[in-house]
Amino acid sequence: MATTLMLNASPAWAQSPAARPLQELAAQRGLLIGAAAAPRPLLDDQRYAAVLAREFSIVTPENALKWPWVQPDPGRFTWQDADAIVHFAVAHGQKVRAHTALWHLAVPAWIVDGRYDTVALQSIVQQHMRAVAQRYAGQLTYWDVVNEAVADDGRLRDTLWLRKLGRDYIAQAFTWAHQAAPNVKLVYNDYGAEEPNAKSDAIYALVRSLKARRVPIAAVGFQMHLGPRRLDPQKLYANFQRFARLGVELHVTEMDLPLGKLEGTPEQRLAEQARRIRAVIDVCLAVPAVKVIQFWGVDDNHSWLNREKQQSPLLFDTRYQPKPAYWAVAEALTRHHAAADDPEAGN
Ligand code: XIL
Repeated sequence: MATTLMLNASPAWAQSPAARPLQELAAQRGLLIGAAAAPRPLLDDQRYAAVLAREFSIVTPENALKWPWVQPDPGRFTWQDADAIVHFAVAHGQKVRAHTALWHLAVPAWIVDGRYDTVALQSIVQQHMRAVAQRYAGQLTYWDVVNEAVADDGRLRDTLWLRKLGRDYIAQAFTWAHQAAPNVKLVYNDYGAEEPNAKSDAIYALVRSLKARRVPIAAVGFQMHLGPRRLDPQKLYANFQRFARLGVELHVTEMDLPLGKLEGTPEQRLAEQARRIRAVIDVCLAVPAVKVIQFWGVDDNHSWLNREKQQSPLLFDTRYQPKPAYWAVAEALTRHHAAADDPEAGN
């Protein structure tokens, strides 16, 4: 059924033979390209579903696998929203990344108020992880086990998880997730760690120590919520290189770039957005450890940044038309010269 819907709903540009889906172009470069998705509009807007299925090879539930959605009350699990996205992805041959087990901003009230001691909370977390793993057995490729656990100054973020589970909770969380889902590749995910800085230094040290202890971490996720400041491609490249040497995959997990205060006419601002996103893709292509590039949404209308109007942070506009940033990504993925990908080669 979904296939018929999709064909009918294919936008005009998608019928042009020149426009190959991003996921095909990405696959040729050994990459998955993805988007975060929400059950609404997925279930009630065929155009959204069509673009998601056509363009992307990996999907992340934007919120539906966060703790309050999955287990809003102790022992009561609600899977409707996550099912909608996971089933869609599986039906369309897409990979799924689960997001996220432990995040300080997605803790249900019953845990915040629950006065559980360490041992009780450990078993609650393990049970939660087992429930997710069982529900989607064989359907998950990646899992953001711990999200945003490091503060900007490089210290461990002061969260309920740290306070209640203790200083070694990150290693424990990966170990428990691995026990629950031995075939899923486990990810540490954070923002603001794209360039070398106090935070990325701390994450680097954390991941190095996890690897040294043989804790099952497979990848580091760089959220890549790009702000007004231009990311320095050389610094991104250097940072990616050092993480790659730790023997983990690197993922761009939540890329978006609001137009914000970019200057000029609407066309100029969209062109600048495209250039900046392109610069990130070029660095990704130069680092073989980068395996996933994912955007935090499909179209501008459904971005989490849309609360402020006209931020237009994604690849598709509010009518699901591809923007200059889309074509810039497509072009970057199409280029053949491996050598020219090296930002240190001075191109
Ligand atoms: C955001 C969602 O996009 C919003 O819909 C929700 O209200 C809050 O969370 N870092 C993350 C994501 O890891 O889970 C966040 O997603 C964005 C920042």
